[in-house]
Amino acid sequence: MAIILGIESSCDDTSAAICIDGKICSNVIASQAVHQNYGGVIPELASRVHQQNIIPAIHQAIDVAKIHKNDIDAVAFTRGPGLLGSLLVGTSFAKSFALAKGLPLIEVNHMQAHILAHFIEENKPSFPFICLTVSGGHTQIVLVKDYFDMEVIGETNDDAAGEAFDKTAKLLGLPYPGGPLIDKYAKQGDKFAFKFPEPQVDGLNFSFSGLKTSIMYFVRDRIKEDPEFLKNRLFDICASVQERIISILLNKLKKASVQYDIKTIAIAGGVSANSGLRTALNEAALTEGWKVYIPKFEYCTDNAAMIAIAGYYKFLNKDFVGQDIAPLARMLF
Ligand code: KG4
Ligand code: ZN
Repeated sequence: MAIILGIESSCDDTSAAICIDGKICSNVIASQAVHQNYGGVIPELASRVHQQNIIPAIHQAIDVAKIHKNDIDAVAFTRGPGLLGSLLVGTSFAKSFALAKGLPLIEVNHMQAHILAHFIEENKPSFPFICLTVSGGHTQIVLVKDYFDMEVIGETNDDAAGEAFDKTAKLLGLPYPGGPLIDKYAKQGDKFAFKFPEPQVDGLNFSFSGLKTSIMYFVRDRIKEDPEFLKNRLFDICASVQERIISILLNKLKKASVQYDIKTIAIAGGVSANSGLRTALNEAALTEGWKVYIPKFEYCTDNAAMIAIAGYYKFLNKDFVGQDIAPLARMLF
């Protein structure tokens, strides 16, 4: 039997999970409300709150899984990419716990873990598949050849898709993180009300910074004509912006599918919780003949279950690291 403790602390969620023989038995997530009024994550505040949340989250994960801390066989932690101060909290806890208990230590790449979240459920994708990984910090199209054999075949040249949602929300006066709110308001709006430009970017890469600027000027000009514009048309703006972000993502995904002749398509990361994107992917399954994989909501945004499952597959390979390991703000595959 293999019992893995997974720890995630790369951004603003402190999370701990227990994986027993490839099955997730607990997944505790302590989110940080402290950033809401700042329009983004404040790194120094994030690391301080991780420090407060990490021990209770781990205790709870152990309790929910109905195990004892002495039953744990290995500790998997997010090494990067992420905010260094935040990563340090999880990494330091993982190292100390592993040292105290004489356990092997497993480093996990956060972006790979988002993709490996697809291996938590029974319905697992088969290799090779293409995964669109869309989060607050990253937007990547990844060719997934095996659990830890992944190649980034497309990525953003500037902002991430989640950032496009969050920055749009900020422009519209909505709190952080804006993605879930835009998603909610978009459901009540007309997605064809306004047409925002689609950036022309080569190959499988993305660009979202132009979209953000065009939304900024659009709102500024319309408010000059009608001071109530934002209030009256908020739902239509949200629906139209979301529609454009989704079409940008889907068009590149279609291109990748043709280029690599792969029809098994997955999405991962916080933005994969977006209901419009989920619907669009299901529609593409019908029109493109894709077999699509969409994670459960709790495994879309940051969570330790994905770290524990990635840790489990590394445990099977005896892929361990030493106590000299340090977190990495930037970490490639
Ligand atoms: O993967 P994640 O939890 O953290 C990072 O690794 O960045 O992703 C967070 C991002 C935020 O930008 C948030 O606004 C976005 O995911 N997000 C959403 C939705 N839920 C979370 N974006 C659009 N629609 C949603 N429902
Ligand atoms: Zn993430």
